[in-house]
Amino acid sequence: DTGHFTYDQGYGSTASTKSAITYIDGDKGVLLYRGYPIEQLAEHSSFLEVAYLLLNGELPKKAEFDSFSNEITHHTMMHESQKEFFKGFHHDAHPMAMLAASVASMSAFYHDKINVEDPADRRLAAIRLIAKMPTLAAGCFRYSIDWPFRYPRNNLEYVDRFLHMMFEVPSEPLQLSPVAAKALDLLFILHADHEQNASTSTVRLVGSTGANPYASIAAGITALWGPAHGGANEAVLKMLNEIGTPDKVESAVLRAKDKNDSFRLMGFGHRVYKNFDPRAKIIREMTHKVLNELGVNDPLLEVAVKLEEAALKDDYFVERKLYPNVDFYSGIIYKALGIPTEMFTVMFAIARTAGWIAHWIEQHETPGSRIGRPRQIYVGSDVRDYIPGAKR
Ligand code: SDX
Repeated sequence: DTGHFTYDQGYGSTASTKSAITYIDGDKGVLLYRGYPIEQLAEHSSFLEVAYLLLNGELPKKAEFDSFSNEITHHTMMHESQKEFFKGFHHDAHPMAMLAASVASMSAFYHDKINVEDPADRRLAAIRLIAKMPTLAAGCFRYSIDWPFRYPRNNLEYVDRFLHMMFEVPSEPLQLSPVAAKALDLLFILHADHEQNASTSTVRLVGSTGANPYASIAAGITALWGPAHGGANEAVLKMLNEIGTPDKVESAVLRAKDKNDSFRLMGFGHRVYKNFDPRAKIIREMTHKVLNELGVNDPLLEVAVKLEEAALKDDYFVERKLYPNVDFYSGIIYKALGIPTEMFTVMFAIARTAGWIAHWIEQHETPGSRIGRPRQIYVGSDVRDYIPGAKR
């Protein structure tokens, strides 16, 4: 275990990174966080408890959780001068751009106070990042709608505190919805970690150079943004809107199979799952439940259900083992909670921060861990001599 990364060059990858955090069996559709099945954590746990589990390897006793939760609560504020930082953006800047930049800017506030070799400093960085991500994320949203930022309320739980910072209207008290908070907390649990996905591998590679945790997590945010990765949840909503009505589903499936058409079914397929993504199953069930409880009737849900039905009985998708992934239904719930489409991947980033920083710490704690140095299969020119310009 040299900490080296072997990237899938399309020629088949050989795992060489060892980790004890998350286990996936892509053929059986199994996902375990520190050995606990995602289905059980989804039913019984909370995002903050899952964050503790990912970081520490064990579920917390009450006193341990209370202490962890209290630490998170007291690190939720961003530096006042970080608000000035947002003012450099146009209001229509993509929230993922603002989030990546503002997290990277945390390096300017804290990096000289952190020794990445010190376990206590590493842990404090984890607390700061898990605590501040919702505050920075809500700041991205409030800035985009030209509303004043809201300070995090210490008397609220993690998700309620985030929803308050997002939606509190200056002129009237916010009616917090227990249904919305529970739905978002569950989505955060499901998105918290996922083994060596592109953004987590990015965090580990950047962290392996000794870079500070804020810079490493900011790199993860930018990797997550891509539509092939976390950006897919935003792309799914755009796709469903483009399809528009259930009667257009068949033609969308035809386009997705056409190699001359760049159109893909966003929210379908996965590098590892060649069976149902267990998270997609949970999110699909909760989508119907949450929309009913919120009294929301979104016609796009019927388009999504019809699209899934059509794809799952189509040979092209069946042969390629293309199933709905975590991003297929999540956007419909985010939309029902009033979260705008361009904020969907920001939601993913809030949750995945727990996994990213757990991997960043694990790598530092792995004996003999070295700088990641992916290799390649060279397909360029043979060695050749320089040709002076006049002779070219
Ligand atoms: C996430 O890694 C993680 O764990 C990621 C994640 C996490 O929690 O961190 O799970 C989160 O990123 C989920 C994935 C979100 N992305 C999307 O939903 C975008 C749409 N999906 C695809 O772009 C694609 O499926 C990928 C990117 C997810 C996987 O890409 P691959 O590895 O190229 O897919 P593949 O090797 O399985 O493809 C096999 C075939 C190919 O066709 P052929 O060459 O065999 O003819 O299936 C085709 C692909 O073209 N294909 C699709 C398709 N996905 C794959 N065709 C149409 N629509 C699709 N969505």
